[in-house]
Amino acid sequence: MEHPDTDPVSARRVVVTGAGGQLGQALLEAFPGALGLTHADWDVHEPPPSQVTDCYVVLHAAAWTDVDGAEGDPEGAEAVNVLGTRNVVSLGVPVVAYSTDYVFDGRKREPYVESDPTNPQSVYGRTKLEGEREVRDGWVVRSSWLFGPTGHNFLRTMLRLGAEREEVAVVDDQRGSPTYVGHLAEATKRIVELPFGLYHVAADGDCTWADFAEAIFEEAVLDCRVRRITTEELGRPAPRPAYSVLRSENPDTPRLPHWRDGLRDCLARIRD
Ligand SMILES: NC(=O)c1ccc[n+]([C@@H]2O[C@H](COP(=O)([O-])OP(=O)(O)OC[C@H]3O[C@@H](n4cnc5c(N)ncnc54)[C@H](OP(=O)(O)O)[C@@H]3O)[C@@H](O)[C@H]2O)c1
Repeated sequence: MEHPDTDPVSARRVVVTGAGGQLGQALLEAFPGALGLTHADWDVHEPPPSQVTDCYVVLHAAAWTDVDGAEGDPEGAEAVNVLGTRNVVSLGVPVVAYSTDYVFDGRKREPYVESDPTNPQSVYGRTKLEGEREVRDGWVVRSSWLFGPTGHNFLRTMLRLGAEREEVAVVDDQRGSPTYVGHLAEATKRIVELPFGLYHVAADGDCTWADFAEAIFEEAVLDCRVRRITTEELGRPAPRPAYSVLRSENPDTPRLPHWRDGLRDCLARIRD
């Protein structure tokens, strides 16, 4: 792609779908002047509205992200994650499509790289993978375990429960890299300067959900114990990979800070 401007990304019209979501909000901050379209502004299941016809790039953060809910409504998840992505692609401009570590089955015990075979175990993972395949001219950015200062996420749930309870039960047999949406949004600025393709962009380091919960209580100074349980004990409808740490095999892919730095940055943001 040619970038005639000195600051090409911010100098031209960037469109963000799913602008009300946690990543969408972080993208609007990282790309000042971007046109943010919430679910109410554009249900991506519908053809694009007229105001997005003259854009330079679409940061496609809209998705069906209810992993358990997708098991009971696969058509609903497919409508957003596959057909929705097809509608975004139909604009005919480059697209950054965000995808997930849940495209992998979790049987590996070392980080998943871009060339690893996918094998989603859940409806959510399958529809996200099918959505990836809709992207022709653009970047597919797989990330994992997103958290931010807004929206529904594990960090915000733990902050609430940690203030209410003495103990919470948290899964200790799934390992991944909790990724701060602010860091992923900043990295997106560098991604759009790279050739089209697939990129794994997740926080450095890895942990289990129980480790993450303990770190949250420590950093937020909440007096709450973590009781470590298994995925089976929790009994959620959708299967999740036991191991889904993502790394990039491409030296040009932006590297993100450690998840613990992401946690601190996010908490500082919440305190502001
Ligand atoms: N969350 C994670 O842990 C995680 C991990 C890896 C990758 N990702 C991917 O990262 C991206 C951003 O996720 P996120 O965590 O920011 O999710 P999020 O907070 O749930 O945001 C998704 C947004 O999409 C909107 N949306 C849902 N259906 C839509 C539709 N038909 N048309 C338009 N907008 C629609 C939602 O609006 P409503 O709330 O009004 O429905 C919400 O604002 C997604 O592609 C997700 O698959 C997420």
